[in-house]
Amino acid sequence: MASADVGLVIVAAGSGTRLGAEVPKAFVPLAGVPILGHALRGARSCPGLAEVVVVGPSRWLGQAEEVCRSAGFASDDESVSDAVSVTVVAGGATRGDSVAAGLAALSDAVRVVLVHDAARCLTPPAVFARVVKAVRAGAGAAVPGVPVVDTIKQVDAAGLVVGTPDRAVLRAIQTPQGFARAVLERAHAGSPDATDDAGLVERLGEPVLVVAGDERALKVTTCDDLDRAARFLTAGAAGA
Ligand code: C5P
Repeated sequence: MASADVGLVIVAAGSGTRLGAEVPKAFVPLAGVPILGHALRGARSCPGLAEVVVVGPSRWLGQAEEVCRSAGFASDDESVSDAVSVTVVAGGATRGDSVAAGLAALSDAVRVVLVHDAARCLTPPAVFARVVKAVRAGAGAAVPGVPVVDTIKQVDAAGLVVGTPDRAVLRAIQTPQGFARAVLERAHAGSPDATDDAGLVERLGEPVLVVAGDERALKVTTCDDLDRAARFLTAGAAGA
């Protein structure tokens, strides 16, 4: 059996302005459960999981702890947490700052780090398993991705098209993104200014492996996304 050396950083400190809700995005209910609660449930069976760090909005840390408890994780009750330790820390102004705060809270025992957007709250457990398996097999960085269905065009500042990459070689990248801890720490030692953590590893010139993602790992950003996520939940319940 693989050792329990996986640390999961769930970034949940975004405001979610595009959802137009009165609470930060991680606390917006989806079928009666906060988005963060769904994200935690999806992570519960992650292979080798030893620690979870939830990075929340600074004024919502108590609520984040409550959501952890409801999802079956608790920072102070080992019998509830199945020996997975949970820490809640405050996030920063950017996603990169929030990831850095999460990384700083991991214990020395963690060798494999997963960074996951709470907003991708319905990511199926199989995606976590594929990412962990790839890192354990030797990838310094492994990310889930799905083929793109749209034709993607690169444009200049005036809106003129400057190129059309071959769609067959494009992937839309999701989370959790998995890393050998040393690789991620080196990547974050530079500027954390990137839309994902794999981008920082790419800047180091190191390989990033793409494994199969899942359409249910959509990032809930708009009200339409919330509706789509609700439909996935209904379909899942009907198929169960
Ligand atoms: O804003 P965006 O949807 O790209 O955010 C992706 C994830 O990063 C979300 O789960 C959000 O909560 C998190 N985030 C964060 N701290 C920030 C900005 C975003 O933890 N300052």
